[in-house]
Amino acid sequence: MLVLWFLIFLLILFYVRHFIKWKHGPPGPLPLPLVGNLVQLIMMGTQPHLAIARLSKKYGDIFRLQIGTQDFVFASSIEALVNLYTRDEALGRDVYGTLLDRSAGQNTGIIMAVGETWEINRKWTFKTLNRLGLRKGSGIEDSINEQCDFVVKSCETALSTRGTGWVAIDVSPMFLIPVTKVVFRLVMGDRIDDADNGAALEKLIYLSEEMAKSTSLGAGLDAAFPFLRFIVPKLTGRNVQMKCYTSIRDAAQKLLDAIRLEQKSSSLNDDPKSLAHLYIQEMDNDPSSALFSDFHFGSLYMDLLQAASDTTNSYLQCLILFSVTQRSCQEKIYEEIVNIIGTCNRATLEHRRLMPYTESFMLETHRHSKIVPTLLPHKITKEFTIGKYIIPQDTQILADIHSVNFDERIWKNPMEFDPTRFLDTDGSVSKEKRKLCVPFGVGRRACPGESVAEWTAFIFLVNIIRSFMLAVVPGENPPMTEMHVGITSGPHPFKVAISRREIN
Ligand code: HEM
Repeated sequence: MLVLWFLIFLLILFYVRHFIKWKHGPPGPLPLPLVGNLVQLIMMGTQPHLAIARLSKKYGDIFRLQIGTQDFVFASSIEALVNLYTRDEALGRDVYGTLLDRSAGQNTGIIMAVGETWEINRKWTFKTLNRLGLRKGSGIEDSINEQCDFVVKSCETALSTRGTGWVAIDVSPMFLIPVTKVVFRLVMGDRIDDADNGAALEKLIYLSEEMAKSTSLGAGLDAAFPFLRFIVPKLTGRNVQMKCYTSIRDAAQKLLDAIRLEQKSSSLNDDPKSLAHLYIQEMDNDPSSALFSDFHFGSLYMDLLQAASDTTNSYLQCLILFSVTQRSCQEKIYEEIVNIIGTCNRATLEHRRLMPYTESFMLETHRHSKIVPTLLPHKITKEFTIGKYIIPQDTQILADIHSVNFDERIWKNPMEFDPTRFLDTDGSVSKEKRKLCVPFGVGRRACPGESVAEWTAFIFLVNIIRSFMLAVVPGENPPMTEMHVGITSGPHPFKVAISRREIN
Protein backbone atom coordinates (compact mmCIF):
# COMPACT_ATOMS: atom_id res chain seq x y z
CA MET A 1 0.00 0.00 0.00
CA LEU A 2 2.82 2.35 0.99
CA VAL A 3 4.55 1.66 -2.32
CA LEU A 4 1.33 2.53 -4.18
CA TRP A 5 1.02 5.87 -2.33
CA PHE A 6 4.66 6.60 -3.04
CA LEU A 7 4.13 5.94 -6.76
CA ILE A 8 1.05 8.19 -6.81
CA PHE A 9 3.10 10.90 -5.09
CA LEU A 10 5.85 10.58 -7.74
CA LEU A 11 3.25 10.77 -10.50
CA ILE A 12 1.75 13.97 -9.08
CA LEU A 13 5.23 15.43 -8.63
CA PHE A 14 6.09 14.60 -12.25
CA TYR A 15 3.02 16.41 -13.63
CA VAL A 16 3.33 19.41 -11.27
CA ARG A 17 6.94 19.88 -12.42
CA HIS A 18 5.92 19.40 -16.04
CA PHE A 19 3.14 22.03 -15.87
CA ILE A 20 5.33 24.55 -14.05
CA LYS A 21 8.18 24.10 -16.54
CA TRP A 22 5.96 24.42 -19.63
CA LYS A 23 3.41 26.96 -18.29
CA HIS A 24 4.57 29.54 -20.86
CA GLY A 25 6.23 27.10 -23.24
CA PRO A 26 5.06 25.80 -26.62
CA PRO A 27 2.22 23.26 -26.67
CA GLY A 28 2.70 19.51 -27.08
CA PRO A 29 1.22 16.16 -26.14
CA LEU A 30 1.08 15.16 -22.49
CA PRO A 31 4.12 13.02 -21.64
CA LEU A 32 4.16 9.90 -19.49
CA PRO A 33 6.69 9.53 -16.68
CA LEU A 34 10.01 7.90 -17.74
CA VAL A 35 9.09 7.37 -21.42
CA GLY A 36 7.78 10.88 -22.16
CA ASN A 37 5.99 10.89 -25.55
CA LEU A 38 7.92 7.92 -26.90
CA VAL A 39 4.94 5.57 -26.81
CA GLN A 40 2.75 8.06 -28.74
CA LEU A 41 5.54 8.48 -31.32
CA ILE A 42 5.96 4.72 -31.77
CA MET A 43 2.20 4.28 -32.13
CA MET A 44 2.15 6.91 -34.89
CA GLY A 45 4.09 4.67 -37.28
CA THR A 46 7.56 3.46 -38.15
CA GLN A 47 8.73 6.76 -39.66
CA PRO A 48 9.43 9.22 -36.82
CA HIS A 49 9.93 12.21 -39.17
CA LEU A 50 6.39 11.77 -40.53
CA ALA A 51 4.99 11.39 -37.01
CA ILE A 52 6.71 14.65 -36.05
CA ALA A 53 5.25 16.36 -39.13
CA ARG A 54 1.75 15.17 -38.15
CA LEU A 55 2.22 16.51 -34.62
CA SER A 56 3.16 19.92 -36.05
CA LYS A 57 -0.20 20.02 -37.87
CA LYS A 58 -1.91 19.63 -34.50
CA TYR A 59 0.31 21.78 -32.25
CA GLY A 60 1.70 24.43 -34.60
CA ASP A 61 5.08 25.54 -35.98
CA ILE A 62 6.78 25.40 -32.58
CA PHE A 63 5.87 22.49 -30.31
CA ARG A 64 7.47 20.41 -27.60
CA LEU A 65 7.97 16.70 -27.10
CA GLN A 66 9.58 14.71 -24.34
CA ILE A 67 11.55 11.76 -25.65
CA GLY A 68 12.48 9.48 -22.76
CA THR A 69 13.90 11.89 -20.23
CA GLN A 70 14.92 14.65 -22.67
CA ASP A 71 12.84 17.72 -23.60
CA PHE A 72 12.81 18.81 -27.24
CA VAL A 73 11.27 21.78 -29.02
CA PHE A 74 10.62 21.27 -32.75
CA ALA A 75 10.63 23.98 -35.44
CA SER A 76 8.22 23.08 -38.25
CA SER A 77 8.29 26.19 -40.44
CA ILE A 78 11.24 28.02 -41.98
CA GLU A 79 10.46 31.10 -39.89
CA ALA A 80 10.43 29.15 -36.63
CA LEU A 81 13.60 27.26 -37.64
CA VAL A 82 15.55 30.42 -38.43
CA ASN A 83 14.28 32.18 -35.30
CA LEU A 84 15.29 29.30 -33.05
CA TYR A 85 18.54 28.15 -34.64
CA THR A 86 20.07 31.62 -34.99
CA ARG A 87 19.68 32.54 -31.29
CA ASP A 88 22.94 32.94 -29.37
CA GLU A 89 21.28 30.99 -26.53
CA ALA A 90 20.89 28.05 -28.93
CA LEU A 91 24.56 27.31 -29.63
CA GLY A 92 24.93 24.46 -27.13
CA ARG A 93 25.07 20.71 -27.67
CA ASP A 94 23.96 18.02 -25.29
CA VAL A 95 26.37 15.14 -25.11
CA TYR A 96 25.09 11.95 -23.56
CA GLY A 97 25.19 8.19 -23.93
CA THR A 98 27.63 6.77 -26.45
CA LEU A 99 28.38 10.29 -27.75
CA LEU A 100 29.86 11.02 -24.35
CA ASP A 101 32.01 7.88 -24.57
CA ARG A 102 33.07 8.97 -28.09
CA SER A 103 34.96 11.87 -26.53
CA ALA A 104 35.81 10.13 -23.22
CA GLY A 105 33.51 12.65 -21.52
CA GLN A 106 35.59 15.64 -22.69
CA ASN A 107 34.56 18.85 -24.44
CA THR A 108 36.47 18.23 -27.67
CA GLY A 109 36.40 18.46 -31.50
CA ILE A 110 33.79 20.58 -33.31
CA ILE A 111 30.50 18.76 -33.76
CA MET A 112 29.86 17.93 -30.12
CA ALA A 113 31.95 20.73 -28.57
CA VAL A 114 30.64 23.84 -26.84
CA GLY A 115 31.91 27.27 -25.76
CA GLU A 116 35.45 28.41 -26.42
CA THR A 117 36.64 24.92 -27.37
CA TRP A 118 34.02 24.75 -30.14
CA GLU A 119 34.75 28.26 -31.36
CA ILE A 120 38.55 27.84 -31.49
CA ASN A 121 38.47 24.35 -33.01
CA ARG A 122 35.95 25.29 -35.70
CA LYS A 123 37.81 28.49 -36.62
CA TRP A 124 41.28 26.92 -36.64
CA THR A 125 40.23 23.84 -38.60
CA PHE A 126 38.41 25.62 -41.42
CA LYS A 127 40.93 28.46 -41.63
CA THR A 128 43.64 25.82 -41.97
CA LEU A 129 41.69 23.72 -44.49
CA ASN A 130 41.10 26.87 -46.55
CA ARG A 131 44.78 27.69 -46.43
CA LEU A 132 45.56 24.14 -47.61
CA GLY A 133 43.21 24.34 -50.59
CA LEU A 134 39.57 24.19 -49.54
CA ARG A 135 39.05 27.67 -50.98
CA LYS A 136 37.68 28.18 -54.47
CA GLY A 137 40.51 28.66 -56.96
CA SER A 138 43.11 27.01 -54.70
CA GLY A 139 43.27 23.58 -56.31
CA ILE A 140 40.09 22.14 -54.85
CA GLU A 141 38.62 21.68 -58.35
CA ASP A 142 41.57 19.54 -59.41
CA SER A 143 41.18 17.45 -56.31
CA ILE A 144 37.44 16.95 -56.91
CA ASN A 145 38.02 16.23 -60.61
CA GLU A 146 40.71 13.69 -59.72
CA GLN A 147 38.26 11.77 -57.50
CA CYS A 148 35.45 12.14 -60.03
CA ASP A 149 37.67 10.63 -62.73
CA PHE A 150 37.80 7.38 -60.71
CA VAL A 151 34.01 7.19 -60.78
CA VAL A 152 33.72 8.01 -64.49
CA LYS A 153 36.49 5.49 -65.31
CA SER A 154 34.82 2.73 -63.31
CA CYS A 155 31.59 3.36 -65.28
CA GLU A 156 33.57 3.26 -68.53
CA THR A 157 35.20 0.00 -67.51
CA ALA A 158 31.75 -1.49 -66.82
CA LEU A 159 30.60 -0.32 -70.26
CA SER A 160 33.67 -1.50 -72.14
CA THR A 161 33.24 -5.06 -70.88
CA ARG A 162 29.78 -4.90 -72.46
CA GLY A 163 30.77 -3.24 -75.77
CA THR A 164 27.79 -1.06 -76.64
CA GLY A 165 24.33 -0.36 -75.22
CA TRP A 166 23.25 -0.10 -71.61
CA VAL A 167 24.83 -1.57 -68.52
CA ALA A 168 23.38 -1.72 -64.99
CA ILE A 169 25.57 -0.35 -62.19
CA ASP A 170 25.06 -0.31 -58.44
CA VAL A 171 25.05 3.33 -57.27
CA SER A 172 25.27 2.65 -53.52
CA PRO A 173 29.06 2.08 -53.28
CA MET A 174 30.09 4.58 -55.99
CA PHE A 175 30.72 7.82 -54.14
CA LEU A 176 31.54 7.17 -50.49
CA ILE A 177 35.32 6.77 -50.85
CA PRO A 178 35.94 9.44 -53.55
CA VAL A 179 33.95 12.20 -51.81
CA THR A 180 35.63 11.56 -48.46
CA LYS A 181 39.06 11.64 -50.10
CA VAL A 182 38.41 15.18 -51.40
CA VAL A 183 38.51 16.46 -47.79
CA PHE A 184 40.98 13.90 -46.45
CA ARG A 185 43.66 14.78 -49.02
CA LEU A 186 43.88 18.05 -47.04
CA VAL A 187 43.85 16.29 -43.66
CA MET A 188 46.51 13.67 -44.53
CA GLY A 189 48.35 15.36 -47.42
CA ASP A 190 50.02 13.14 -50.04
CA ARG A 191 50.06 10.25 -47.58
CA ILE A 192 46.59 9.45 -48.93
CA ASP A 193 48.25 8.24 -52.17
CA ASP A 194 50.27 5.61 -50.32
CA ALA A 195 48.54 2.22 -50.88
CA ASP A 196 48.60 1.18 -47.20
CA ASN A 197 47.37 4.54 -45.91
CA GLY A 198 44.70 4.71 -48.61
CA ALA A 199 43.46 1.19 -47.78
CA ALA A 200 43.40 1.97 -44.04
CA LEU A 201 41.37 5.13 -44.69
CA GLU A 202 38.90 3.19 -46.85
CA LYS A 203 38.41 0.67 -44.05
CA LEU A 204 37.62 3.51 -41.63
CA ILE A 205 35.15 5.10 -44.04
CA TYR A 206 33.26 1.80 -44.40
CA LEU A 207 33.30 1.29 -40.65
CA SER A 208 31.95 4.80 -40.14
CA GLU A 209 29.19 4.11 -42.68
CA GLU A 210 28.29 0.87 -40.89
CA MET A 211 28.17 2.83 -37.65
CA ALA A 212 25.90 5.53 -39.13
CA LYS A 213 23.47 2.78 -40.15
CA SER A 214 23.62 1.12 -36.74
CA THR A 215 22.51 4.31 -35.01
CA SER A 216 19.10 4.97 -36.56
CA LEU A 217 17.34 3.05 -33.81
CA GLY A 218 20.26 3.19 -31.40
CA ALA A 219 20.57 7.00 -31.43
CA GLY A 220 16.91 7.35 -30.48
CA LEU A 221 17.24 4.86 -27.66
CA ASP A 222 20.51 6.42 -26.53
CA ALA A 223 18.89 9.86 -26.42
CA ALA A 224 15.85 8.60 -24.54
CA PHE A 225 17.59 6.31 -22.05
CA PRO A 226 21.39 6.78 -22.05
CA PHE A 227 21.86 3.98 -19.45
CA LEU A 228 20.46 1.39 -21.91
CA ARG A 229 23.76 1.35 -23.81
CA PHE A 230 25.31 -0.66 -20.99
CA ILE A 231 22.36 -3.05 -20.62
CA VAL A 232 21.65 -3.78 -24.31
CA PRO A 233 24.80 -2.62 -26.14
CA LYS A 234 23.96 -4.55 -29.29
CA LEU A 235 20.47 -3.07 -29.61
CA THR A 236 21.70 0.50 -29.11
CA GLY A 237 24.53 -0.07 -31.60
CA ARG A 238 27.13 0.66 -28.92
CA ASN A 239 29.45 -2.20 -29.94
CA VAL A 240 29.75 -1.00 -33.54
CA GLN A 241 30.00 2.64 -32.45
CA MET A 242 32.80 2.06 -29.94
CA LYS A 243 34.74 -0.10 -32.42
CA CYS A 244 34.43 2.71 -34.96
CA TYR A 245 35.50 5.48 -32.54
CA THR A 246 38.50 3.50 -31.30
CA SER A 247 39.65 2.65 -34.83
CA ILE A 248 39.37 6.28 -35.97
CA ARG A 249 41.29 7.54 -32.93
CA ASP A 250 44.01 4.90 -33.57
CA ALA A 251 44.31 6.02 -37.20
CA ALA A 252 44.58 9.68 -36.18
CA GLN A 253 47.31 8.80 -33.67
CA LYS A 254 49.23 6.75 -36.28
CA LEU A 255 49.10 9.74 -38.63
CA LEU A 256 50.60 12.07 -36.00
CA ASP A 257 53.25 9.45 -35.08
CA ALA A 258 54.27 8.99 -38.72
CA ILE A 259 54.68 12.76 -39.23
CA ARG A 260 56.73 13.11 -36.03
CA LEU A 261 58.98 10.23 -37.08
CA GLU A 262 59.62 11.85 -40.45
CA GLN A 263 60.30 15.16 -38.72
CA LYS A 264 62.97 13.46 -36.58
CA SER A 265 64.69 11.91 -39.58
CA SER A 266 64.30 15.37 -41.22
CA SER A 267 62.90 13.77 -44.36
CA LEU A 268 59.77 15.88 -44.01
CA ASN A 269 59.39 18.93 -46.15
CA ASP A 270 59.45 22.18 -44.13
CA ASP A 271 56.37 23.39 -45.94
CA PRO A 272 53.45 21.63 -44.22
CA LYS A 273 50.84 20.43 -46.70
CA SER A 274 48.39 18.71 -44.39
CA LEU A 275 46.08 19.60 -41.53
CA ALA A 276 47.81 16.97 -39.37
CA HIS A 277 51.26 18.51 -39.94
CA LEU A 278 50.02 22.02 -39.14
CA TYR A 279 48.29 20.66 -36.04
CA ILE A 280 51.62 19.27 -34.81
CA GLN A 281 53.22 22.67 -35.39
CA GLU A 282 50.46 24.20 -33.28
CA MET A 283 51.16 21.70 -30.47
CA ASP A 284 54.93 22.32 -30.71
CA ASN A 285 54.43 26.08 -30.53
CA ASP A 286 52.52 25.77 -27.28
CA PRO A 287 53.18 22.41 -25.57
CA SER A 288 51.04 23.42 -22.59
CA SER A 289 47.95 24.13 -24.73
CA ALA A 290 44.83 22.51 -23.32
CA LEU A 291 43.17 22.61 -26.72
CA PHE A 292 45.81 21.23 -29.08
CA SER A 293 46.73 17.70 -28.08
CA ASP A 294 46.89 14.24 -29.66
CA PHE A 295 43.52 13.41 -28.10
CA HIS A 296 41.86 16.58 -29.45
CA PHE A 297 43.31 15.87 -32.91
CA GLY A 298 41.64 12.43 -32.77
CA SER A 299 38.30 14.19 -32.19
CA LEU A 300 38.80 16.59 -35.09
CA TYR A 301 39.81 13.74 -37.40
CA MET A 302 36.70 11.80 -36.34
CA ASP A 303 34.40 14.83 -36.79
CA LEU A 304 35.67 15.52 -40.29
CA LEU A 305 35.46 11.88 -41.33
CA GLN A 306 31.95 11.43 -40.02
CA ALA A 307 30.58 14.81 -41.14
CA ALA A 308 32.01 14.78 -44.66
CA SER A 309 31.52 11.19 -45.82
CA ASP A 310 27.98 9.92 -45.27
CA THR A 311 26.23 13.25 -45.98
CA THR A 312 27.96 14.08 -49.26
CA ASN A 313 27.68 10.46 -50.38
CA SER A 314 23.92 10.40 -49.74
CA TYR A 315 23.45 13.74 -51.47
CA LEU A 316 25.25 12.54 -54.61
CA GLN A 317 23.25 9.33 -54.64
CA CYS A 318 20.07 11.44 -54.45
CA LEU A 319 21.23 13.59 -57.39
CA ILE A 320 21.69 10.43 -59.47
CA LEU A 321 18.38 9.00 -58.24
CA PHE A 322 16.37 12.06 -59.31
CA SER A 323 18.31 12.31 -62.60
CA VAL A 324 16.98 8.83 -63.38
CA THR A 325 13.43 9.18 -62.11
CA GLN A 326 13.12 12.65 -63.72
CA ARG A 327 14.59 12.00 -67.18
CA SER A 328 13.41 15.35 -68.57
CA CYS A 329 15.42 17.15 -65.85
CA GLN A 330 18.49 15.10 -66.79
CA GLU A 331 18.15 16.15 -70.44
CA LYS A 332 17.77 19.82 -69.46
CA ILE A 333 20.96 19.58 -67.40
CA TYR A 334 22.71 17.97 -70.39
CA GLU A 335 21.50 20.81 -72.63
CA GLU A 336 22.95 23.31 -70.19
CA ILE A 337 26.24 21.36 -70.09
CA VAL A 338 26.50 21.42 -73.89
CA ASN A 339 25.69 25.14 -74.05
CA ILE A 340 27.92 26.32 -71.22
CA ILE A 341 30.76 23.81 -70.88
CA GLY A 342 30.73 21.99 -74.19
CA THR A 343 31.13 18.23 -74.32
CA CYS A 344 34.93 18.17 -74.43
CA ASN A 345 35.88 20.66 -71.72
CA ARG A 346 36.22 19.97 -68.02
CA ALA A 347 33.58 21.33 -65.66
CA THR A 348 34.93 24.07 -63.39
CA LEU A 349 33.35 25.82 -60.45
CA GLU A 350 33.11 28.97 -62.55
CA HIS A 351 30.59 27.17 -64.76
CA ARG A 352 28.24 26.65 -61.82
CA ARG A 353 26.91 30.18 -61.64
CA LEU A 354 26.25 30.06 -65.40
CA MET A 355 24.07 26.95 -65.04
CA PRO A 356 20.92 28.00 -63.14
CA TYR A 357 18.86 24.98 -64.19
CA THR A 358 21.47 22.56 -62.81
CA GLU A 359 21.66 24.64 -59.63
CA SER A 360 17.87 24.58 -59.25
CA PHE A 361 17.88 20.80 -59.79
CA MET A 362 20.41 20.48 -56.95
CA LEU A 363 18.25 22.63 -54.67
CA GLU A 364 15.11 20.65 -55.51
CA THR A 365 17.04 17.44 -54.78
CA HIS A 366 17.95 18.84 -51.35
CA ARG A 367 14.31 19.75 -50.72
CA HIS A 368 13.12 16.22 -51.45
CA SER A 369 15.95 14.25 -49.91
CA LYS A 370 16.23 15.94 -46.48
CA ILE A 371 19.73 14.51 -45.92
CA VAL A 372 19.80 15.61 -42.26
CA PRO A 373 16.07 15.32 -41.47
CA THR A 374 16.13 17.08 -38.10
CA LEU A 375 19.41 19.06 -38.51
CA LEU A 376 21.48 18.47 -35.36
CA PRO A 377 20.08 19.15 -31.89
CA HIS A 378 21.12 22.45 -30.30
CA LYS A 379 20.95 22.78 -26.53
CA ILE A 380 19.47 25.95 -25.06
CA THR A 381 22.06 27.44 -22.72
CA LYS A 382 19.82 30.20 -21.33
CA GLU A 383 16.03 30.62 -21.21
CA PHE A 384 14.63 32.97 -23.89
CA THR A 385 11.31 34.15 -25.29
CA ILE A 386 10.20 33.56 -28.84
CA GLY A 387 6.80 35.04 -29.77
CA LYS A 388 4.45 34.10 -26.98
CA TYR A 389 6.57 31.18 -25.75
CA ILE A 390 9.37 30.83 -23.23
CA ILE A 391 11.92 28.17 -24.15
CA PRO A 392 13.46 26.84 -20.93
CA GLN A 393 17.19 26.36 -20.42
CA ASP A 394 18.54 22.84 -21.17
CA THR A 395 15.80 22.10 -23.71
CA GLN A 396 17.08 20.87 -27.06
CA ILE A 397 15.82 22.25 -30.35
CA LEU A 398 15.38 20.15 -33.46
CA ALA A 399 14.14 20.97 -36.96
CA ASP A 400 11.19 19.23 -38.59
CA ILE A 401 12.68 19.47 -42.09
CA HIS A 402 9.89 17.42 -43.66
CA SER A 403 7.28 20.06 -42.69
CA VAL A 404 9.63 22.93 -43.62
CA ASN A 405 10.43 21.50 -47.08
CA PHE A 406 6.85 20.53 -47.94
CA ASP A 407 5.10 23.52 -46.39
CA GLU A 408 2.07 24.24 -48.60
CA ARG A 409 2.08 27.87 -47.45
CA ILE A 410 5.43 28.30 -49.20
CA TRP A 411 5.77 25.67 -51.91
CA LYS A 412 3.15 25.21 -54.65
CA ASN A 413 2.37 21.48 -55.14
CA PRO A 414 5.13 20.64 -52.65
CA MET A 415 5.23 16.89 -53.36
CA GLU A 416 6.04 17.45 -57.04
CA PHE A 417 9.67 17.37 -58.16
CA ASP A 418 10.00 20.66 -60.01
CA PRO A 419 13.40 22.42 -60.14
CA THR A 420 11.86 25.48 -61.83
CA ARG A 421 10.23 26.46 -58.53
CA PHE A 422 13.68 27.84 -57.60
CA LEU A 423 13.96 29.96 -60.74
CA ASP A 424 12.94 33.59 -61.19
CA THR A 425 11.04 34.66 -64.31
CA ASP A 426 14.35 35.72 -65.93
CA GLY A 427 15.68 32.16 -65.53
CA SER A 428 18.14 32.93 -62.72
CA VAL A 429 18.08 31.15 -59.34
CA SER A 430 15.85 33.09 -56.96
CA LYS A 431 17.76 34.38 -53.92
CA GLU A 432 14.54 34.42 -51.89
CA LYS A 433 13.61 30.82 -52.71
CA ARG A 434 17.14 29.59 -52.03
CA LYS A 435 16.91 30.96 -48.47
CA LEU A 436 13.84 28.77 -47.82
CA CYS A 437 15.79 25.53 -48.27
CA VAL A 438 18.37 25.02 -45.49
CA PRO A 439 19.95 21.54 -45.77
CA PHE A 440 23.13 22.78 -44.06
CA GLY A 441 21.38 24.53 -41.18
CA VAL A 442 21.50 28.24 -40.34
CA GLY A 443 23.34 30.49 -37.93
CA ARG A 444 26.76 30.23 -36.34
CA ARG A 445 26.61 26.44 -36.02
CA ALA A 446 25.57 25.84 -39.64
CA CYS A 447 27.66 23.32 -41.61
CA PRO A 448 31.15 24.70 -42.36
CA GLY A 449 31.54 22.14 -45.17
CA GLU A 450 28.66 23.46 -47.29
CA SER A 451 30.78 24.94 -50.09
CA VAL A 452 33.00 21.91 -50.58
CA ALA A 453 29.97 19.57 -50.46
CA GLU A 454 28.17 21.62 -53.13
CA TRP A 455 31.26 21.93 -55.34
CA THR A 456 31.89 18.19 -55.12
CA ALA A 457 28.26 17.43 -55.95
CA PHE A 458 28.26 19.87 -58.90
CA ILE A 459 31.43 18.53 -60.52
CA PHE A 460 30.47 14.87 -60.04
CA LEU A 461 26.91 15.38 -61.34
CA VAL A 462 27.95 17.40 -64.38
CA ASN A 463 30.80 15.06 -65.35
CA ILE A 464 28.60 11.99 -65.03
CA ILE A 465 25.70 13.43 -67.05
CA ARG A 466 28.15 14.81 -69.61
CA SER A 467 29.58 11.32 -70.17
CA PHE A 468 26.57 9.02 -69.73
CA MET A 469 22.82 8.74 -70.16
CA LEU A 470 21.23 7.44 -66.97
CA ALA A 471 17.99 5.42 -67.03
CA VAL A 472 15.89 2.96 -65.09
CA VAL A 473 17.31 -0.55 -65.48
CA PRO A 474 15.25 -2.23 -68.26
CA GLY A 475 12.71 -4.69 -66.89
CA GLU A 476 13.00 -3.27 -63.36
CA ASN A 477 10.80 -0.83 -61.43
CA PRO A 478 12.10 2.75 -61.09
CA PRO A 479 14.16 3.11 -57.90
CA MET A 480 12.25 4.24 -54.81
CA THR A 481 12.42 7.96 -54.14
CA GLU A 482 11.38 7.45 -50.50
CA MET A 483 14.51 7.77 -48.35
CA HIS A 484 15.58 5.51 -45.52
CA VAL A 485 15.69 7.80 -42.52
CA GLY A 486 18.15 7.74 -39.64
CA ILE A 487 20.35 10.55 -38.28
CA THR A 488 20.99 11.18 -41.95
CA SER A 489 18.77 9.98 -44.75
CA GLY A 490 19.56 8.65 -48.19
CA PRO A 491 18.22 6.42 -50.95
CA HIS A 492 17.67 2.71 -50.47
CA PRO A 493 20.29 0.72 -52.45
CA PHE A 494 19.55 1.09 -56.16
CA LYS A 495 20.92 0.43 -59.63
CA VAL A 496 20.83 2.56 -62.75
CA ALA A 497 21.38 1.72 -66.39
CA ILE A 498 24.11 3.78 -68.06
CA SER A 499 25.02 4.24 -71.68
CA ARG A 500 27.70 6.38 -73.37
CA ARG A 501 26.49 9.70 -74.73
CA GLU A 502 27.09 10.19 -78.43
CA ILE A 503 29.45 13.17 -78.59
CA ASN A 504 28.68 15.40 -81.58
C1 HEM B 1 25.66 17.31 -48.49
C2 HEM B 1 26.57 17.30 -47.54
C3 HEM B 1 26.38 17.85 -46.17
C4 HEM B 1 25.23 18.16 -45.49
C5 HEM B 1 23.78 18.02 -45.97
C6 HEM B 1 25.63 18.66 -44.19
C7 HEM B 1 24.73 19.10 -43.22
C8 HEM B 1 25.11 19.50 -41.96
C9 HEM B 1 24.18 19.90 -40.92
C10 HEM B 1 22.67 19.97 -41.07
C11 HEM B 1 24.91 20.21 -39.83
C12 HEM B 1 24.37 20.63 -38.47
C13 HEM B 1 24.21 22.12 -38.37
C14 HEM B 1 23.66 22.51 -37.02
O1 HEM B 1 24.12 22.01 -35.98
O2 HEM B 1 22.75 23.34 -36.98
C15 HEM B 1 26.31 20.00 -40.15
C16 HEM B 1 27.35 20.20 -39.27
C17 HEM B 1 28.68 20.04 -39.60
N1 HEM B 1 29.19 19.68 -40.84
FE1 HEM B 1 28.11 19.28 -42.50
N2 HEM B 1 27.00 18.64 -44.10
C18 HEM B 1 27.51 18.16 -45.28
C19 HEM B 1 28.85 18.02 -45.61
C20 HEM B 1 29.91 18.36 -44.81
C21 HEM B 1 31.31 18.32 -45.19
C22 HEM B 1 31.82 17.95 -46.58
C23 HEM B 1 32.04 18.69 -44.09
C24 HEM B 1 33.55 18.83 -43.94
C25 HEM B 1 34.33 19.41 -44.79
C26 HEM B 1 31.10 18.97 -43.02
C27 HEM B 1 31.46 19.36 -41.75
C28 HEM B 1 30.56 19.65 -40.74
C29 HEM B 1 30.96 19.99 -39.38
C30 HEM B 1 32.40 20.05 -38.84
C31 HEM B 1 29.78 20.24 -38.67
C32 HEM B 1 29.64 20.67 -37.21
C33 HEM B 1 29.51 22.19 -37.13
C34 HEM B 1 29.41 22.73 -35.69
O3 HEM B 1 28.95 22.01 -34.81
O4 HEM B 1 29.81 23.88 -35.50
N3 HEM B 1 29.83 18.77 -43.49
N4 HEM B 1 26.40 19.58 -41.46
